[in-house]
Amino acid sequence: MLPQRMTHRRSSPADAIHDLLAAGWRAQALRTFVAFGCPQQLTIYGPMMADELAVRVGAVAAALEPVLVALEPFGVVAQTEGHYELGPIGRVLLDGEPDSMATAVAVDAHPLWQEAMQSLHTTIRTGRPPHGGLYGYLDQHPDVAELFDLYMARRTLRTAPAVATHEFGDRVVDLGGGTGIMLAHILRAHPRTTGWVVEREPVAKRATAHLAEQADIQGRWEVIVGDIFAAGDIPSDATDYLAASVLHNLSDEATGVLLATIREVMPPGSRLRLVDMVVPPGAAPDPSRDLGLRMAAMFGAGERRLGQYAALLQKAGFRIAEVAHPLPWGLTLITCISDESDEIEAM
Ligand SMILES: C[S@@+](CC[C@H](N)C(=O)[O-])C[C@H]1O[C@@H](n2cnc3c(N)ncnc32)[C@H](O)[C@@H]1O
Repeated sequence: MLPQRMTHRRSSPADAIHDLLAAGWRAQALRTFVAFGCPQQLTIYGPMMADELAVRVGAVAAALEPVLVALEPFGVVAQTEGHYELGPIGRVLLDGEPDSMATAVAVDAHPLWQEAMQSLHTTIRTGRPPHGGLYGYLDQHPDVAELFDLYMARRTLRTAPAVATHEFGDRVVDLGGGTGIMLAHILRAHPRTTGWVVEREPVAKRATAHLAEQADIQGRWEVIVGDIFAAGDIPSDATDYLAASVLHNLSDEATGVLLATIREVMPPGSRLRLVDMVVPPGAAPDPSRDLGLRMAAMFGAGERRLGQYAALLQKAGFRIAEVAHPLPWGLTLITCISDESDEIEAM
């Protein structure tokens, strides 16, 4: 069972503000715990005192122990009589676990993402993220690009099976389809379907390599090196146009341009399938609210409410036919059809 967070300190507005500030400190404790290789040492050697762990990872015990103490209430570590071991959620910090978050932590701890979060004030003031946006930076830094693709692939590995359970027609285009994980799952779940991934060149290469390794879907996919904003790069005879975790990288203006481009290309009766987070009504905590901050820092954009999607879609000539929620990671599948369609045609 996961430990219960103690909430007794959040009894006043001042305590609540303290908690918000401390969330940033705790995140730093988590990054540090991982950067020192503590999860691996605790897995290999089992429970140990903070001094022993400090020696093993090359740290100063007096400074390391507060990190362990801060992470204990969240179940990252567990402590018995001064001996620390990996707690119930600490396991996912290890590489190789099926639901491993090791790459997510590595991305979060990378100077590019850290610098972006620290520049949030400037980005909000100017609307311009550092380095002119993530993808330009990745083009110049192949090692970081690979890390990012791996992070997205791990994340999509959890959502793709759920997306693939939905109905898809015979020809699916995955726009900005990353390394092809989503398309592979859709093809596997829909044996009559063929598909394309449209991607920027370096990612397209990794998509080709990944899809080529999937023995059960050979002959049913193609990777197009292209720009999703260029109508000529998007197949015009598909049944489904998928854009997963693409729109949340884009300003409303750029989203409008992309939606209009897709609308121009797609044949009558086809569908647009958006996979993104949707900020829910009310004020309850939700992952979309947190990821929106990262999107603001990296892209000067953010996660949207359903009404905001509906407005952007309507402007581009679409209407929402179905909203499927929740997918893993708090994602939502929004199915859209042309505003001229009476209904989705049989495909
Ligand atoms: C956040 S990732 C999502 C990847 C994938 N759809 C998934 O869900 O795992 C966004 C993807 O869009 C691609 N992308 C961004 N701008 C693009 C463009 N103009 N043309 C083609 N691909 C683009 C990026 O290379 C990246 O792989």
